[in-house]
Amino acid sequence: MADNNADWWRTGVVYQVYVRSFADGNGDGTGDIAGLRQRLGYLSELGVDALWMNPWYASPLRDGGYDVADYRRIDERFGTTEEVEALIAEAHDLGIRIIADLVPNHTSSDHVWFQEALASEPGSAARDRYMFRKGKGENGELPPTNWTAVFGGSAWEPVGDGWWYLHLFDVSQPDLNWENEEVRAEFDSVFRFWLDRGVDGFRIDVAHGMIKDPAFPDVEKVGAILESETTEDHPFWDRDGVHEINRRWRAILNEYEDRMMVAEAWVAPHRLPLYLRSDEYHQSFNFDLLGAEWGAGEFTEVIGTAVTAAEEIGAASTWVLSNHDVMRHATRYGLAKGSAWRKWPVTGPVDALDVEVGQRRARAACLITMSLPGSTYVYQGEELGLPEVWDLPEDVLDDPTWERSGHAEKGRDGCRVPIPWTESGPSFGFGDAEPWLPQPEMFGSLSAQAQEGDSGSMLGLYRAAIAARKEHFVDDQSCEMLDLGADVLSYRRGAIQVVVNMGTSSIALPDGEVLLMSIAPDSTSAGPGQLAVDCAAWVIALS
Ligand code: GLC
Repeated sequence: MADNNADWWRTGVVYQVYVRSFADGNGDGTGDIAGLRQRLGYLSELGVDALWMNPWYASPLRDGGYDVADYRRIDERFGTTEEVEALIAEAHDLGIRIIADLVPNHTSSDHVWFQEALASEPGSAARDRYMFRKGKGENGELPPTNWTAVFGGSAWEPVGDGWWYLHLFDVSQPDLNWENEEVRAEFDSVFRFWLDRGVDGFRIDVAHGMIKDPAFPDVEKVGAILESETTEDHPFWDRDGVHEINRRWRAILNEYEDRMMVAEAWVAPHRLPLYLRSDEYHQSFNFDLLGAEWGAGEFTEVIGTAVTAAEEIGAASTWVLSNHDVMRHATRYGLAKGSAWRKWPVTGPVDALDVEVGQRRARAACLITMSLPGSTYVYQGEELGLPEVWDLPEDVLDDPTWERSGHAEKGRDGCRVPIPWTESGPSFGFGDAEPWLPQPEMFGSLSAQAQEGDSGSMLGLYRAAIAARKEHFVDDQSCEMLDLGADVLSYRRGAIQVVVNMGTSSIALPDGEVLLMSIAPDSTSAGPGQLAVDCAAWVIALS
């Protein structure tokens, strides 16, 4: 890398690439590394510092690649290891780092280890790599515990000989046994394999799930995938044993220069700092902002708490509004207060959705996350203002949640629809073939091409905000929360005051020069010197 900044992850803008839906370079309807390489210029122009690549490994894609069949091979639909090496080199030339996604809690049932386990006797070394347990009942006909899987149904699957294997997620995702030294050693080697190929870091999937209570007690409830577990001493979430694994990985990363790892750990807020000790993770996703209801009270609370916590433990905060697991925030913010958006509703938000409000708030949210201290994660397409596609026909649904929930929850496909690059054409420039998920007609008007050159567009705003962030918000990481009343979120970052109007009528802008406003002034109902409802501004205070 040209710039040698060991702490790049502390303040970076990390762009999440859901490779399957980003750009299709080989014309098979599925996004791939070739397509991504063709779009690196776009990402460089956007100004991002790093790409987090959702899993690219060989996989039957029963859970979008979080079911890994071979950790050292790229899925052939996505490309080859050589192409990934070329991608890393090209990205590095543009000053963009690459973060790989590693899935240690479970493998795919297609993984050679699991196939070997199925073909082996109970009690064998092959079975000990996974979580096999004898069933209850006379002949083992009942599951070993009452645990339910995150995607629905029992977390245990029988294999026909009175024994069952644990899968906290889909039935095709058997949990590994992290008490087994062979499993640990294998992952050490996988880490090194990708570090040697030049990846700059890892996003660790389900970082709080690897260790299970050996007593295998029954539980009250498992909890939805994206809800923090707050219960102490849960039999499989956030057990103390995971920290030993974290330290083992950190030691490996420390052998290399400037590498990082970020945890996807859904744990109670007071437990999160444990993951961020100096010999464990560099950072962890903070999902509190993502979960916050639009409103100054809640946003101020969440931001203030995270900023203070980061200062206290010397870690960098992370800000996330959307990812491949949740309803896109341009839609979420248009829903009525209190909507159950986490449940991926089967009917969609129907008439409760106000598209314009969602878009306005999504713009303001861009100016919030881009002006906060720490690093910011951008999920592909949010810079275009893409909404959740909640009306996908049932026959195209791919997320295991749909089947495992008995069709009660639609699942996460609505935020994974392929990106529109051009205003027209068969897949709006995504590729030459029919895309793996259909795009709605309105995607053309939100395409990168449609927004190119329009500084008042969402894309224009993201570009301007990222550029200004580099200039104003990176060197000085201090952040002072301001109290401007119950309807206003405000904080000071050095010379700049950030103001967000989360109330129901226009407010006066603070005195000073407006550096950026989340909506072009002429398209608001607010007069000069005013900030309209659901809008944000960065103001250089008069000194
Ligand atoms: C994480 C991923 C999600 C996946 C699950 C199981 O939560 O973000 O997409 O389904 O882990 O690997």
